[in-house]
Amino acid sequence: MKHNPKNLNHMKDLVEKIERVSKEADVLELNTHSRSELLESVGKFANSYINNLPEADSFNHKKVAVERLKIKKETRSLPEILSVFKEEVTDIGLRAASGGHVGYIPGGGIYAAALGDFLAAVSNEYAGVSYASPGAVAIENEVINWLKDIFSFPETAVGNLASGGSVSNLIALTAARDAYGVKNEKIQKSVIYLSEQAHHCITKSLRIIGLEDVLIRHIRLDSDFKICPQDLVKQIEKDKSAGLHPFLVIATAGTTDVGLIDPLNEIAEISRQHKLWFHVDAAYGGFFILTSKKELFKGLEKADSLVVDPHKGLFLPYGLGAVLIKNAEAVLHSNQYQANYMQDAQTEDLVIDPANLSPELTKHFRGMRLWLPLQLHGVQPFIACLEEKLLLTRYLRKRLLDIGFRLGPEPDLSVSYFWYPLENKEADENEFNRKLMQAIHNDGRVFLSSTTLNGKFVIRMAILSFRTKLETIDRAIEMIADCLEEIKSK
Ligand SMILES: Cc1ncc(COP(=O)(O)O)c(C=O)c1O
Repeated sequence: MKHNPKNLNHMKDLVEKIERVSKEADVLELNTHSRSELLESVGKFANSYINNLPEADSFNHKKVAVERLKIKKETRSLPEILSVFKEEVTDIGLRAASGGHVGYIPGGGIYAAALGDFLAAVSNEYAGVSYASPGAVAIENEVINWLKDIFSFPETAVGNLASGGSVSNLIALTAARDAYGVKNEKIQKSVIYLSEQAHHCITKSLRIIGLEDVLIRHIRLDSDFKICPQDLVKQIEKDKSAGLHPFLVIATAGTTDVGLIDPLNEIAEISRQHKLWFHVDAAYGGFFILTSKKELFKGLEKADSLVVDPHKGLFLPYGLGAVLIKNAEAVLHSNQYQANYMQDAQTEDLVIDPANLSPELTKHFRGMRLWLPLQLHGVQPFIACLEEKLLLTRYLRKRLLDIGFRLGPEPDLSVSYFWYPLENKEADENEFNRKLMQAIHNDGRVFLSSTTLNGKFVIRMAILSFRTKLETIDRAIEMIADCLEEIKSK
């Protein structure tokens, strides 16, 4: 029946009220002209931002004028909003989209992924259950299948797209916990084996999932900071004979600090022999399996669970990690739930629904930000870009040697470290390099970060952004040499 307020005299007041607030709310539905206008402004802003990246500094210490970001009653025009966004957000701190971001673990943020996000947001597809959005869920699952193929995981494995490496690791570790029934009094006798070089999100996850009190064994590392398999075996045997309950081994394929890959094949074999869950955190390094470094990843396919981060190794903007897990039942045990209000969405095939494999119910349609770029560009440019990062790492190391730096071991991938040696053995080398790091941060042309390895302060360089090019490395060397002069002259 057509809506006619005249037929609703007994509800006149109510209808009038609805019409009044509805009119006020209408501003939320922009008309075609406004949409085009706003999109054009944002597009222009994005173009100018990206075009200026090669010249812009990668880091500065400017202070944010928080007052300008306050949410007030009065509205602002988009040009004003964009100018505040530029001055108080994108011009301050670390310019993570820049090729000059070679600290921590960068990625860059390819434009096509932003367009994928835009489409996901405009359509607001519900990527949690296939009943609501079979197409969006098919894309999520297609991305997972693509990953299974790359990492030689079986078709029966399940996976999920999460916000990043931390949540992906959380899902995997929770599945391991549930596969081995680690709860109640069993917790304090259960043992997990990992490296001091494992990312801190692993320990954080263990706390979140109630495993803070399990026994953590940090396995001895060799001089390259890789797990020593013999020590792993010895420790497992010792724990078993002490009546403990070893259940999980965690290796890293591309450590955050030094970019090294643990001996995956040997660890896989040890885990198999001792019937332990083998988890690999390949958040940073995983996609290098597509490059000339493939051999180093041997054994990864034997993992029970694996984490990779497209927002690192596939250069996506922040917000996409992935987890693959072979034991579907364990993942379902942790995450699947039947609520009355979801009864219409029930499906026979439980693993088809991303929400059944994740702590999230309503899920951002993340697959789109990877699926779209892969369709648009193909896979090959991503592989070439990773190869380029490996070569740039070699180039950087040679250039650093030329200007007198000492280097950490030959990196497996594209993270490496270095420090400036002091001839005077009495001098505090750590302090000197700390000052050098500070000078580099103050300079800001290129952003590097530091770490401490066995008490030694070192400077790291993580070459992973798709925008990091030969010129970026030359610029970094020029900057490092300038900063070195400045510190030496003090
Ligand atoms: C090896 C490794 N694992 C996990 C993480 C955490 O990932 P995210 O920051 O995406 O949560 C990182 C982040 O750098 C990492 O390098």
